[in-house]
Amino acid sequence: MTRLAVITGASSGIGEATALRLAREDGLRLVLVARREERLRSLAARIGAGASFVAVDLTAPDAPARVREHVEGLGDPLGLLVNNAGAAWRATFADGGYENVRRTMEVNFDAVLRLTEALLPLLRAAAPSAIVNVASTAGRVARGGTGAYSASKFALAGWSDSLHLEEAPNGVHVGLVLPGFIATEGFPQSELRAKALTRRMVSTPEKGAEAIVAAGLGRKPERYVPRPYALAAALRVVAPGLVRRVLGGGGAQVMTTRTGADAADQR
Ligand SMILES: NC(=O)c1ccc[n+]([C@@H]2O[C@H](COP(=O)([O-])OP(=O)(O)OC[C@H]3O[C@@H](n4cnc5c(N)ncnc54)[C@H](OP(=O)(O)O)[C@@H]3O)[C@@H](O)[C@H]2O)c1
Repeated sequence: MTRLAVITGASSGIGEATALRLAREDGLRLVLVARREERLRSLAARIGAGASFVAVDLTAPDAPARVREHVEGLGDPLGLLVNNAGAAWRATFADGGYENVRRTMEVNFDAVLRLTEALLPLLRAAAPSAIVNVASTAGRVARGGTGAYSASKFALAGWSDSLHLEEAPNGVHVGLVLPGFIATEGFPQSELRAKALTRRMVSTPEKGAEAIVAAGLGRKPERYVPRPYALAAALRVVAPGLVRRVLGGGGAQVMTTRTGADAADQR
């Protein structure tokens, strides 16, 4: 029986790699979601097998309803929702202020909850089904200059942990993926990749996709990418002073940039 899989942020990076990886699974029909229509159209054509797309800004008031209408129109049960779309704007709080926190939360947190709220009844009806939320290692360990991004990903991780417990009895598995550094369009990781010492810290979108598949189809509760990044999160809890000293000594300079179609002006 065919089941639908919705993937947000499928126009580039980890989301695109996830779509290509899920396309290899039997019985899945993909629904690709992001703003850049041409990219979604060509990816859906490349995947074939009934793949379709919704070109929408997920922060728009009508975005959740538009995705839900599209999914219901396809007529198959919704087996998987991958909340992967996200963005980051680099700024200290003194420079970016509340507005930077607000716009980051809008994409990385509010939009995820709004889409999940709209699709949860369909996921429950299709149980056993799954949701995968793509947070970040920055959702467990915060660095200077990334406060807005970390706030959004801490919120997403906390909410996901709770939703996991709430939806387990309904057969809707909630998995959390926490990437470290993955070289993508929105997060080029240029500084890390430029140095031999740090190059090995950077992973690939394909590794991110494998983690999403493990957290979704494999029903794993939580996956760091690469997996040793779990150590950073553990250290933050058991040795917070050490983590502060390391990050204060230059770790805070290793940064992300804004993601998405209009990222270039921010880099
Ligand atoms: N790469 C890393 O090192 C890293 C580390 C930790 C966490 N992550 C997380 O991984 C996820 C994917 O990031 P990525 O590295 O693959 O970056 P990316 O290549 O920039 O992809 C971001 C995706 O999100 C979509 N998107 C952004 N804003 C949107 C909006 N308002 N409405 C709809 N779609 C939107 C973009 O599509 P359009 O521009 O076409 O809308 C794009 O497809 C994000 O949640 C990011 O925070 C990445």
